[in-house]
Amino acid sequence: MKKTTLTVLIIIFCMTTINAQPKLSATNIDEVMKAMTLEEKAKLLVGGANNFFGDQAVVGGEATLVPGAAGTSPAIPRLGIPATVLTDGPAGVRIDPTREGTDQTFYATGFPIGTCLASTWNTELVKKVGEAIGNETKEYRCDVILGPGMNLHRNPLCGRNFEYYSEDPLVTGKIGAAYINGVQSQGVGVSAKHFAVNSQETNRTSVDEQVSQRAARELYLRGFEIAVRESQPWTIMSSYNRINGQYSMGNRDLLTSILREDWGYRGIVMTDWIGIRKGLETTAEVQAGNDLMEPGQPAQVQEIINGVNSGKLSMEDVDRNVRRMLEYIVKTPSFKQYPASNKPDFKAHADITRQSACEGIVLLKNNGVLPWNKPAANDQENQAIKTVALFGENSYNFLSGGTGSGCVHTPYVVDLVEGLKNAGISTSKTLTDIYRKYYEYARVKFQLERHPANWFQQEQFGQQKYPEIEFSQIAIGKEARQADAAIVTIGRQAGEGADRDIATEFNLTNDERRLISNVCKVFHDAQKPVVVIINSGSVIETASWRDEPDAIICAWQPGEEGGNSLADILTGKVNPSGHLTMTWPLTATDHPSTEGYPGEIVTPHHEDIYVGYRYFDTFKKNVAYPFGFGLSYTTFEFSKPKVKVGSKDVTVQVTVKNTGNVAGKEVVQVYVTAPKGSIEKPAQELKAFAKTRELQPGESQTLMLAIPIRLLASFDEQGSQWLADDGTYTLRIGVSCRDIRQTANVRVKRYTEKVNNVLKPQVQLNLLHQ
Ligand code: BGC
Repeated sequence: MKKTTLTVLIIIFCMTTINAQPKLSATNIDEVMKAMTLEEKAKLLVGGANNFFGDQAVVGGEATLVPGAAGTSPAIPRLGIPATVLTDGPAGVRIDPTREGTDQTFYATGFPIGTCLASTWNTELVKKVGEAIGNETKEYRCDVILGPGMNLHRNPLCGRNFEYYSEDPLVTGKIGAAYINGVQSQGVGVSAKHFAVNSQETNRTSVDEQVSQRAARELYLRGFEIAVRESQPWTIMSSYNRINGQYSMGNRDLLTSILREDWGYRGIVMTDWIGIRKGLETTAEVQAGNDLMEPGQPAQVQEIINGVNSGKLSMEDVDRNVRRMLEYIVKTPSFKQYPASNKPDFKAHADITRQSACEGIVLLKNNGVLPWNKPAANDQENQAIKTVALFGENSYNFLSGGTGSGCVHTPYVVDLVEGLKNAGISTSKTLTDIYRKYYEYARVKFQLERHPANWFQQEQFGQQKYPEIEFSQIAIGKEARQADAAIVTIGRQAGEGADRDIATEFNLTNDERRLISNVCKVFHDAQKPVVVIINSGSVIETASWRDEPDAIICAWQPGEEGGNSLADILTGKVNPSGHLTMTWPLTATDHPSTEGYPGEIVTPHHEDIYVGYRYFDTFKKNVAYPFGFGLSYTTFEFSKPKVKVGSKDVTVQVTVKNTGNVAGKEVVQVYVTAPKGSIEKPAQELKAFAKTRELQPGESQTLMLAIPIRLLASFDEQGSQWLADDGTYTLRIGVSCRDIRQTANVRVKRYTEKVNNVLKPQVQLNLLHQ
């Protein structure tokens, strides 16, 4: 090689080396961090702009990557750091269904809502739903789905209960972990939300949830703890509210001491969508362990820079969060440049929606009229019901999901007319005509009368519920002559930004009560059955009317295939196996937390650990339908359990036999009554559950359930530890908390586990049980 050529090459080499910017890879995070300026680090910790505050052009401008997605993390192209896209959830991918400049549509599958998924008690099935949601997230070019919703159903009036799973932390944790494992198996992340104690929508951005350390640890945090330990979510979303005086978003006790030190969490924490908070500095959020400020405002970037420059915020804190962000980013499809198709497999996802909804639907009452297709003597199907009169506006405007950020733009919703038709059952043409016309009128009227401030009542935030229309007994009589049965659908809509009232949302309205009574009276006079379908995301009052219809089905908001799932249950194609994951009280005020719910400025948790069945069972109160309840078209028998105590867990082996005439699945629930010890305990608590496969008549399955000993422990505030007393624990194995089929006793040795002594209430709480 000539001397001059060599010199030129050396010069070029030196220049490229001097100017070389490391490009982010999974193995050079240290190097990239060294190359980052303070400005770039600060930028990475602040959401990459969207249209929330109208300043998207200033930070990154990534808002248009996926129109309608909730937010992004910002790109730093110099260092090969791409933007990542965060989309709502949890019941499917919430993005805009249409985009400018293209005829292509971007509808997403509407999967069953949280309460419906949890009511399956089937973690394998929920994992499959998670896989489908994860796949859709990825194919729509998103990196994280903002779900699952893992707050507890502290009170039935919370507007967002539909997104959450249960009043019980074990169900919440196990179902949440299954969903997360499913989503994350697809190479995208979740954001388990809203961490924590976000049990009301009213004043959610300011309310102070005053809660004892014990109730926080045992109930409100436990679901998240289980999910962290069993599924390591990529991200967790801190909630808007305060806990014992401190905003969750800037709460180091919560985001670091508990989440990372006690539980071993390794992912990132992002804020809920509020930007700059009054009374909470961004620097404090960074310090507390909040890694990503969403949706992000440029002023927050500046706050971080100023904080470091003035010495208020340490560079170590910034670096720690930046590192976690980079560790998150290298896992994402955006980083891996996954070629999203924008064409998920809708058919496969509709099938999983229909199937999972069927398993989550709960049969509350059946005097023998269901299923409609009973096996006849000659084994031929004998369909007695050929024509049905469908009452209730939600038979036609079937609610697939709730409102707010949790609403998905679904390609379609199968209503009851279509669902029954697909099952070979016709419905009244007159009623269809009336209700469809009414729907058009009610829709327009609703939007006209809607208060402008109620922005979640706009149609892009979900289907709305309209008032019922009245039918005279003469009109119902005409229907009764033509139809073989009637259905009355009672719908309820609720969602983000507001809680439900008792008079018109928990209770039935007078119009609804009259409709049920009149239809029951006229159809029963004609000796024809009436089924009530509850199309609601959460609990309603049933005690005052449940004696009237022949059967009651709680369909929840089961996703886009709703009508088909219901037809499967009504005809008996699928045997119901859903069980309630929350108590249905006689009246809303039976829950101790209803008094003063929702709190305006503070919400003191006087009921403490006595939430849901923990209260109703301990204080021996009657309920309409107990926690864990759900009927089947067949019957099951449980064998005597075999119980073993190991060093880490108690195992319970039980054989379930289908003793009826049709195939079905059953849920085995193990409640534990603890010995009298140093800490007061609820009468019983759910400690394990499992679901059988579909068992044919006469078939059995042996299930093995494990209860980790640490799960038997209660939270001892004095010692800041988990503590299980030495003594005899009674395992109560049943199909609801009030239908126990077998019991067994085990001796367990004292167990303790120290944790950080944090999250203390600042005020005396006047607890119900003190
Ligand atoms: C909700 C979150 C949601 C976020 C982004 C917030 O108002 O509380 O659940 O993920 O908005 O849309």
